[in-house]
Amino acid sequence: MPSFEIDKVRADFPILSREVEGKPLTYLDNGATAQKPSAVINSMSTFYAESNANIHRGIHSLSRKATEAYENSRSEIKAALRLPDSHELIFVRGATEGINLVTHGLGDRLEEGDEVVLTIMEHHANFVPWQILQEQKNIKLHFIGLNEFGELDLEAWKAAFNERTRVAAFTHVSNVLGTVNPVSEMTAYARERQVFTLVDGAQALPHGPVDLSEVGGDFYVFSGHKVFGPDGIGVVTGPRDLLNSFPPYQSGGDMIERVQVSGTTFRDVPERFEAGTPNISATLGLAAAFRYMAQIDWEAAAAHEHLLAEQTTEQLKDLGGIRIFGESSGKTAIVSFLFDIAHPQDIGTILDTEGVAIRIGHHCAQPLMDYYNVSATVRASFAFYNNEADVEAFMRGMHKVKRFFG
Ligand SMILES: Cc1ncc(COP(=O)(O)O)c(C=O)c1O
Repeated sequence: MPSFEIDKVRADFPILSREVEGKPLTYLDNGATAQKPSAVINSMSTFYAESNANIHRGIHSLSRKATEAYENSRSEIKAALRLPDSHELIFVRGATEGINLVTHGLGDRLEEGDEVVLTIMEHHANFVPWQILQEQKNIKLHFIGLNEFGELDLEAWKAAFNERTRVAAFTHVSNVLGTVNPVSEMTAYARERQVFTLVDGAQALPHGPVDLSEVGGDFYVFSGHKVFGPDGIGVVTGPRDLLNSFPPYQSGGDMIERVQVSGTTFRDVPERFEAGTPNISATLGLAAAFRYMAQIDWEAAAAHEHLLAEQTTEQLKDLGGIRIFGESSGKTAIVSFLFDIAHPQDIGTILDTEGVAIRIGHHCAQPLMDYYNVSATVRASFAFYNNEADVEAFMRGMHKVKRFFG
């Protein structure tokens, strides 16, 4: 991988040099949260050490500087995402809050009998808010299934649209299967039928830049902590006019235009949906994460990640008794599996003794687990900073599992 210097990249992430259980950390739980480069950590500590102040309300220098830094972060992230001019970017706590904001706003427009098209591979974050709307509004939800490779059945998805369809909400990348959905095709299909779209980008951006002018559609959400940025910060983007027509989601300071005893008027987006003091330091940290990501050679990084995931999959299969979930050819570097001789809980515990961090459980995708008729899987999820030593440590742990239970 000549243009991708993995040792240099790893040196940017301080946590990767620590030990766990007396062994070098092997971090393969990137789907849950990603590690942070020094650039992100420093941007936040510098803010607190040198220029901490509240935004949007102070006349003093620090407050003006903090406001400028906060708004510059918004502009930088909008530019990195190539957000169309017609759209606005709102800072929220994460993908979950972004989806709730959208379901709250769109829900206001839905009427009894309206329909929403979802997929069976959604994270609970893009499942439960729709189910709550179903209860409140008596709308109908369609859950579209998958083919043998864990790819969305696109024909069935298209066939689910009818004259009552108002919204299609789908993940860009599955957090369990790694499947990459053809989001541009899907948003275009929905648009032709005047159906609103919400794309959950939480698992897409960690694997390379996303160009929202190409993705198209209405709403896109993601979480900062999965894109090498801080937690407690995320993004929802959507058409400005549509967002301005949504009722307030949370109310209080900063989102108001004029408050009188007789009534209150509200500001337009983005402030309309940023009530109260936002997570200022995390916003700066998120912009630092985008700057960091911008200098990565993503072609080389993606090839590197894929190779590691492929090596892992092949070596796992060599163990025998392995069932892989999600074998889409273009999938991201996520390997979900079951081992017929050991429970995921035991696998996770044994791997931890080797310093290997992986995820076990339903991955907040219980409908997908039900679809496959399993209760849990083991998931190794890679980032560009993983290396071959990580694959070796993981497989050492898996051989230990085999010796123990085999
Ligand atoms: C596909 C997907 N959507 C949404 C979420 C929710 O993200 P958060 O918990 O950061 O709000 C996750 C988290 O794992 C995810 O993988």
